[in-house]
Amino acid sequence: MNVGIIGAGTMGSGIAQVAATAGCSVVLYDNSAEARQHGQEKLGALLTRLVDKGRISPGEKQRIRDNITYAGSLKELSHTELVIEAIVENPEVKKAVFSELEPHLGHDAIIASNTSSLPIAALAAACRNPERFIGIHFFNPAPLMKLVEVIPAIQTNPEITKKALWLMQEWEKHPVEAKDTPGFIVNRVARPFYGEALRIYDEGIADIPTIDWAMKTLGGFRMGPFELMDFIGNDVNYTVTETVFHAFFGDERYRPSFTQKRMTEAGFLGRKSGRGYYHYGENAPNAEPVQDPVLGQQILDRIVIMLINEAYDALHFRIASREDIETAMTLGVNYPKGLLAWGEEIGYGECVRRLDALFDEYHEGRYRCSPLLRKLA
Ligand SMILES: NC(=O)c1ccc[n+]([C@@H]2O[C@H](COP(=O)([O-])OP(=O)(O)OC[C@H]3O[C@@H](n4cnc5c(N)ncnc54)[C@H](O)[C@@H]3O)[C@@H](O)[C@H]2O)c1
Repeated sequence: MNVGIIGAGTMGSGIAQVAATAGCSVVLYDNSAEARQHGQEKLGALLTRLVDKGRISPGEKQRIRDNITYAGSLKELSHTELVIEAIVENPEVKKAVFSELEPHLGHDAIIASNTSSLPIAALAAACRNPERFIGIHFFNPAPLMKLVEVIPAIQTNPEITKKALWLMQEWEKHPVEAKDTPGFIVNRVARPFYGEALRIYDEGIADIPTIDWAMKTLGGFRMGPFELMDFIGNDVNYTVTETVFHAFFGDERYRPSFTQKRMTEAGFLGRKSGRGYYHYGENAPNAEPVQDPVLGQQILDRIVIMLINEAYDALHFRIASREDIETAMTLGVNYPKGLLAWGEEIGYGECVRRLDALFDEYHEGRYRCSPLLRKLA
């Protein structure tokens, strides 16, 4: 299959590698010669590392490299059957690229966007034939992360959705189908992991290392919320939170935290800037957690119940199927178990009791219980 990728940055290069590994012939377009050069060098170095580790053979490396050609003009994508766009997260720039691209493509070609936060319907509307447009959302790093969210817009032809789901399986990904709503599945359901941790910290209930300790040691999460925010970058994580909050018309459930905003404003972005919630580097002055099992359990219970509530609300609003919500959170963000199953394990009645207790304490819509959870209880 002939595939076009637009954008040779982090995601575009990763997606190109996935497609090339699956045997597709890939044309990778970027309007910056420097980005093309950098992308090519980075991919070369990455494939060499894979050969050194014995994950792929030198022949496989050559085959993947040969399957990707770099282009400096959109015209060079004219023979492709699927184009995946992964450029800057700016709707106007993306729309301009789609309008320029479409006349070069054949009638049957599919156009997809890897956007994390923009409505697919709005991007599709920039095309003359919006029926061929779909969201195909990979996770970073694309070659390693199995999950792909496939998001049809209201304009998308159902045949295109079927084809995209099938194709992602062919590329050895695990596709899930999500409704075109803010954050799709993962970036919506995961919000309380960060938001409620920040809230616990802001209220002085526990310090940062203690919250991370509780989530990892008692909850089985691979990283604590603050470690993860430092890893993602506070600027990136804050922007996603703010985007989701505004896209939900200011629903207080997604309200961002001043703590994270100030961290971003101060340039304490996390690992990449050497300082975030933690200090990085040798002899970094980081505090030890207070390993109090009672406090730890309270922290874990509060964050997990908010995650469970979000997952049930996503199911209530048919954002995705039960199975796809579970898959998305275990494969996309490596949660120790599916949130819907976790809720069942705790018991619906107990879930409702915990959420109502938070609501009674705060009287904020943030703590409202999902109607589905209440109905199940
Ligand atoms: N980074 C992530 O973790 C992640 C995860 C999932 C989805 N996404 C989404 O993927 C997209 C790309 O993100 P990224 O992190 O790879 O960005 P990036 O900054 O690493 O790469 C973007 C590339 O697009 C190129 N570009 C910009 N404008 C262009 C134009 N008009 N025409 C052609 N090329 C252009 C740039 O030169 C750059 O090489 C965004 O929509 C983002 O929301 C990112």
